[in-house]
Amino acid sequence: MLEVQAINQSYDESQTLWDLDISIPEGKCTVLMGRNGVGKTTILNCIMGLVKVASGDIKLNGESLLKHDAEQRPRMGIGYVPQGRQIFPMLTVQENLEVGLPIREKGDRTIPDFIFDLFPVLKEMLHRRGGDLSGGQQQQLAIGRALVVNPKLLILDEPTEGIQPNIVQEIGDIIRMLNKEMGLTVLLVEQKLPFARKVGDQFCILDRGRRVAEGEMDDLDERLIKEYLTV
Ligand SMILES: Nc1ncnc2c1ncn2[C@@H]1O[C@H](COP(=O)(O)OP(=O)(O)OP(=O)(O)O)[C@@H](O)[C@H]1O
Ligand SMILES: [Mg+2]
Repeated sequence: MLEVQAINQSYDESQTLWDLDISIPEGKCTVLMGRNGVGKTTILNCIMGLVKVASGDIKLNGESLLKHDAEQRPRMGIGYVPQGRQIFPMLTVQENLEVGLPIREKGDRTIPDFIFDLFPVLKEMLHRRGGDLSGGQQQQLAIGRALVVNPKLLILDEPTEGIQPNIVQEIGDIIRMLNKEMGLTVLLVEQKLPFARKVGDQFCILDRGRRVAEGEMDDLDERLIKEYLTV
């Protein structure tokens, strides 16, 4: 479904991604792993058009994304939950969700009901400010906002970072449900190993901007964990 092909990327003089290939098959949940600073967020931002690539290609169902700007990419069916959630604290829950709607003609800017079925708390808090929500509620809002475009591919960057353990479990259940029951393809960046194992079908490990391992989640063994994941 999504193919990252030989991507090179630099911030000014320092090269961050090196000939990076990642393949995200339709219907699966792929977990992108690696220690802090290896380039996980950078490649997601390249996919979303928020960071420029130097060379290589990124294809969604065979079509290059590079000729579409960052505003167009969500409309092509990609939902993005950025690291740190990035909700607007002064806007209400409803306004935050509306920000996720692609710019369409007026009158067609409704938030799909299934989002409130998934996250009833967002309905209860529709008129509260984003900044007044708990961390877990803000994460639900960020996921809800990514879903308003009815994406086929959902990309999440460390959705459990700074979230209470009981909510982590809930977020895991929701990602699984979106993937296994609603059929969304998922690309998840995650550093918590039990969480990655629980929701992921396959893994891809980055180290200093290069892909160093990939495979089925069941094949993620102690050697790889020790070499590339634990600190
Ligand atoms: N806007 C930027 N300008 C310059 N350098 C950057 C920028 N964003 C990230 N970097 C650098 O690029 C490298 C990769 O960063 P990135 O955020 O992609 O890593 P990450 O794997 O997502 O890390 P983490 O697990 O901490 O979120 C790091 O060395 C980081 O300092
Ligand atoms: Mg990151």
